[in-house]
Amino acid sequence: MLSCRRPVLRAIALVSVLSFFSLPALAGPGRVAVSSAHEEATAAGLEILAAGGNAFDAAVAVSAALAVVEPASSGIGGGGFWLLHRAEDDFSVMVDGRETAPSAASRDMYLDEDGEVVRDLAINGPLAAGIPGAPAAWVHLAGNYGQLPLADVLAPAIRLAEDGFTVDAKYQTLLNFRAHVMLRWPETAEIFMPGGEVPDVGTRIRQPDLANTLRLLAEQGFDGFYRGPVAEKLVAGTNAAGGIWSLEDLAAYEVVEREVIRTGYRGYELLTASPPSSGGIAIAQILNLIEPYDLEALDRVGRVHLLAEAMRRAYRDRALYLGDPDFVDIPVAMLLSSDYAAGLRAGMRMDRATPSAALAADPSLLPESDNTTHFSLMDAEGNLVSGTLTINLPYGAAFVPPGTGVLLNNEMDDFSAAPGVPNEYGLIGFEANAIEPDKRMLSSMSPTIVKSEDRVAVLGTPGGARIITMVLLGILDFIEGNDPESWVSLPRFHHQYQPDEISLERGFLSDEEIAELEALGHEVTVRARTWGNMHGVMWDRANDRVEAAHDPRWDSGGAEVRELR
Ligand code: GLY
Repeated sequence: MLSCRRPVLRAIALVSVLSFFSLPALAGPGRVAVSSAHEEATAAGLEILAAGGNAFDAAVAVSAALAVVEPASSGIGGGGFWLLHRAEDDFSVMVDGRETAPSAASRDMYLDEDGEVVRDLAINGPLAAGIPGAPAAWVHLAGNYGQLPLADVLAPAIRLAEDGFTVDAKYQTLLNFRAHVMLRWPETAEIFMPGGEVPDVGTRIRQPDLANTLRLLAEQGFDGFYRGPVAEKLVAGTNAAGGIWSLEDLAAYEVVEREVIRTGYRGYELLTASPPSSGGIAIAQILNLIEPYDLEALDRVGRVHLLAEAMRRAYRDRALYLGDPDFVDIPVAMLLSSDYAAGLRAGMRMDRATPSAALAADPSLLPESDNTTHFSLMDAEGNLVSGTLTINLPYGAAFVPPGTGVLLNNEMDDFSAAPGVPNEYGLIGFEANAIEPDKRMLSSMSPTIVKSEDRVAVLGTPGGARIITMVLLGILDFIEGNDPESWVSLPRFHHQYQPDEISLERGFLSDEEIAELEALGHEVTVRARTWGNMHGVMWDRANDRVEAAHDPRWDSGGAEVRELR
C-alpha cells in the first residue's frame, strides 16, 4: 500500500512591500527544458517528461537521479526545497523537505567541557546527521502534484543505482576533500572508494543497497523509508556508530508546504525560498536596499561596492533573526518593509564601506566550500520547478548506515552550535538558529523563479553561504535582459557580513579595481577556487525562445531543451 501524507500547509506573515502582485497564468511554451548538475539526471527528467509526466514528476526523477549519480551534493539521506509554480492556476508553493534535528538533540551537543564547539562531531559521522527529508518530499511531490505513479518516476534512479554511473572529475575533486573522513567507516568507503582508494575517472559505481531502498520507497511510499526494515537499519546503523536517532524520529518526519517569499523588482515578480531558508528574505532585503540606485549606470567597482554593502546588511539580519519559523518568530514583515530598508540604507555610503563591526553582532572567518545541488526545469505547459537539494558538505557526514545505501547528511552544522561561533561556511547565528529537538536548521538554499508577462527565469545554485549572493547576481543579470548562459557564467563576488570582506572569483576585477574597493574601506580577498554550480532555464515568451544552461565551472552538468507535446 503506497502511503502519501497529506500536505501540511504553513504560512508566515509574508508581505513584501516593493510590490505585491500576481501575474496572469501563462500559456505553455510547447517545449520542455531541464538543467541539472549531471547529464544522467537531466536525461532522467527528460525521460519522465517524454513518458507523459509533468514538471513535478520530472522534478522527482531529477532529484532521485541526482541522489544516485551526484552523491557528493545531495541524496536520499538529505533534504531540500522545491519551489513549484503551476501554470494553470498561477499557484506557487515551496515544498520544504529540510532535515530536522533528532528528538534527542540538545542545544550544547557539540560543545566540550570548556564550552568550545567540537567541529568533528558537528560535521563528521552520524551525530552530524539530521532526519532526512528528501524521500518524504519526493513522495509528497509525486502524490500531490505529479500525474505518474511514484514507481515510474523513481525508475530511472533505481536503474542508475543498480547499473551504476561513471566517476567524473567533480566526483573525484569533492571526494578528495572528504576521503579521510569516509575511511573511518570501511563499509561506507567501499561504496564510494572501492578498495579504499579515490576511484579513477571512468570507474563505475554501483549502489545495490541504495537501489533496494529506492525500490521500497517506490513500492510503499513514505513507509518504505520512514518505517519498517529501512528505518530499522537506519536507526541501528546510525546509533551503533554514535548517533542519536530513534524510529519515532523517522516516523514523525513531516514535509511542510510553505508560502513562498514573493517580491517585486523593476516590473518582475520574484518567487523565492521562505524560512527555514534564509535565501528569499535575504534576496528580497538586498533588492529592497538597492532599489533606488541605477545599477546599470554604475561602473564595476561601484556596483560591487553597493551590492556588498547591501549583502553585509542582509547577512547581519540573517544571523540575528532567521531560523525555523515553526520555532522562532521571524519579523518577516519588518525585514521586508520599505521603512526598514530606508533605515538601513541611510547608513550606506557610496564613498565608504561600513565596517561590519559597526553593525551589531560578532566576527568570524570563512573557509571555502562547495556542496549541494540545484536543478531548474519547465514542462510544455509552463509548469516550473526550481529545486535546491543538499546533504551539506561534500559527501555529507561521509557515513552510510550499513545495508541501506543511504549516505547521511551533516546538516546539523547548519544550526548555530554556539552563539556567534561560525559554522563550516563561516556563518554565524544566535538564538533563532540554536539547536532544539525536531527543529529545522537554517539554510541558504534559494531556489527562485522570476517572471514578467514576457520573460520567465528558473534558477538556483549550490554553494553554502554564497548561494544567496550568486542567485541575487543571476536575478539581476536576467532582469537586465540576459540569457541563462550569461547568468550561470557570471563572475561571482560575495559579502556575508562576517568575515568583513568582499570575496571575488579570480580574474573578475583588475588590480586597479581592487585597489579602488580597498580605498573605499573594503577588505578584498581573491579566492583561488571558483564557487557555485548554477543551473538555469528561461522562457522568453515575447520572442518564443526557451533556453537552458548549466554552469561552465563544472563539466558534468546537463542542460537541454526539447520539443515535446
Ligand atoms: N547546507 C547548506 C544550506 O542548506 O544552506
